[in-house]
Amino acid sequence: MLRAEDNQILTRVGPGTLMGELLRRYWTPACLTAEIPEPGGAPARVRLLGENLVAFRDTLGRVGLVQENCPHRGASLYFGRNEDASIRCVYHGWAFDVDGRCVDMPSEPAPFCEKVRMKAYPTHESGGIVWTYMGPAETMTPFRDFGTDGRDAGEFITGKQISACNWVQAMEGNIDTAHISHLHQFDGVDDIPDDGSDKPGYPSNAMSWKFWRHDRAPRLEVHDTWYGYRYAGIRATPNGNTHVRVTAYVVPYSTMVASVPFSTGQGLFVPIDDENCWRYIMMPKNRANPRSLGGANLFAVAPFSTPISGRRDGIIPRLYTAENDYQIDREAQRNGIFSGVSDFVSQDLMVTESMGPIYDRTQEQLGSTDKAISRMRHILISAAKALAEGKEPPAVAAGLDFRSIRGAEKILEPGEDWRLLGTGDDPVVQEAFGIDLPAGAPG
Ligand code: FES
Ligand SMILES: [Fe+2]
Repeated sequence: MLRAEDNQILTRVGPGTLMGELLRRYWTPACLTAEIPEPGGAPARVRLLGENLVAFRDTLGRVGLVQENCPHRGASLYFGRNEDASIRCVYHGWAFDVDGRCVDMPSEPAPFCEKVRMKAYPTHESGGIVWTYMGPAETMTPFRDFGTDGRDAGEFITGKQISACNWVQAMEGNIDTAHISHLHQFDGVDDIPDDGSDKPGYPSNAMSWKFWRHDRAPRLEVHDTWYGYRYAGIRATPNGNTHVRVTAYVVPYSTMVASVPFSTGQGLFVPIDDENCWRYIMMPKNRANPRSLGGANLFAVAPFSTPISGRRDGIIPRLYTAENDYQIDREAQRNGIFSGVSDFVSQDLMVTESMGPIYDRTQEQLGSTDKAISRMRHILISAAKALAEGKEPPAVAAGLDFRSIRGAEKILEPGEDWRLLGTGDDPVVQEAFGIDLPAGAPG
């Protein structure tokens, strides 16, 4: 549980709040590149950290992220004309460039452009995402490159799906390994044939389902790092081996969930406001896995095929919502799918949204399997309080290499330390990138 005031700090993101100020020190996804693909094309509405903004790619190809309301009398610039290297308000024709400067004021006999300036945030495109920095200009931190900079956006799968709950609440699902033994289970797991990979090394993805089902009360170990932490969910397998899922948490809102043999794909939980968030996905199309360890995709054996289950690019629609009870099927819940919901991600959405937009964490009863979420909350709350006292936020300094952060999944060899898995010292990572792996090679 959390004290009421800490829950307040953790969940409030507007300007002037402790967490809002912390989040504004990090480059943050504002929208997808795919939402504003063409120079001079239609603008996109962006609501971020409780602020209403408009993103547009001007006729010169520059990306602007500006306040939604026109500084004249407040008409929405979402309806504006994207022309002449500016966004032009359709009410009286005032035009603004990507830096928020007024560049034309045709309704005034004596224009006073130089007196009008509107809020505009800097942007940076990388990996199919338009990122922005919303903090004070004098404390602007470097863009954190997770391996997308300098590469074509087409090399990545980038998408987002909306969720009607607080961002931390949504993110807690990604650093909660215990729930895969329950929420995402299905009876067919018992029928998956044993392919012999329950032994030290890399199991097949299909067998992983069986391990999650076999040991439903994992032991958690959290290892603090410069960017947050990595934690292991440790399970005994049917053959008595030790199976670990290693997931990374990167302050403030990134997660790299465990996968065989290692993973760099990210789930990012970006606050729209206190009560809504975008769940971004950003992952390389060609995963570094030279021997195709793990074999067929995790979902090849799962009964979670829905009209949206294959969708990862772009804005992923919500078909399973609170309004339709997430299409829960009680018959399926009795005979096949543990949750009763046939869409995998919607299973997560159901449990995290059903807590209410901001859960009152004074009412929780945490157990040992909640260790990773507790640690994340502690890191965020401490960093938010420390920033208010003048201390720099974690994981923003120049020169840090975010490309070296990976999740991992494996059955341990006797005596093997899970902390090495997925790092530059892990033989499978070295194999994937060549043995002379420079520290923090992309992956
Ligand atoms: S309200 Fe935008 S130009 Fe008047
Ligand atoms: Fe989940």
